Amino acid sequence: MKRIVVLISGSGSNLEAIIEACLSQRINGEVVHVISNVPDVFGLTRAANHKIPSSVINHNDFIDRESFDRELYNQVSHLNPDLVALAGFMRILTANFTNPLKGKLINIHPSLLPKYPGLNTHQQAIDNQDSHHGISIHYVTEELDGGPIIAQGAMELDLQSSLEEVIDQIHRIEHNLYPRVIAELLDMKVGLKDNTVQFSHDSEFKDAQPLQYN
Ligand code: GAR
Repeated sequence: MKRIVVLISGSGSNLEAIIEACLSQRINGEVVHVISNVPDVFGLTRAANHKIPSSVINHNDFIDRESFDRELYNQVSHLNPDLVALAGFMRILTANFTNPLKGKLINIHPSLLPKYPGLNTHQQAIDNQDSHHGISIHYVTEELDGGPIIAQGAMELDLQSSLEEVIDQIHRIEHNLYPRVIAELLDMKVGLKDNTVQFSHDSEFKDAQPLQYN
């Protein structure tokens, strides 16, 4: 069974979607461990509900980013993962962590990258009256939200919608797409070579177009 480690900082609804996809065998793997950099978040309760071991590595206990990342890498590497999935993990990672995990480390980000790296993506899309908004799943490099994109999901943005409604729509896309991408990664239909994403002929993401969700 392929081993997935999930890193979170909050509610963990994407973690839940990944766990459910493993349990229903849509993903050929299992979440073996969850790590949060924030204590007492709901994502840790979700892990416990599924009897998945978890740990907290509180970034406030470290003097700088590098030492936090070293400890994070130390713990992650001992778990011997096939894939490390960031799911609402809200820390910028340095090369100490991203380099040794190159090709095995992915992130989900709530915007159509390269638009809106960083925070407050939904509000920026609304404020700019964008016609479309969406999500991106990408390999992680030390550049914030800047690694090679694997798949995107897009929706028309209804400017009458409230921020909460937009976040809700985006979450639904995330919960649908992240498990599908993880399944393909573990089945070797997607990989990284020379910093470029490679797709097998039967990958559903090979067209590199955002999947449309409305
Ligand atoms: C998700 O929308 C995810 O895309 C976003 O945080 C949310 C976490 O929700 N991640 C980022 O903004 C990373 N830059 P969840 O904890 O319910 O999965």
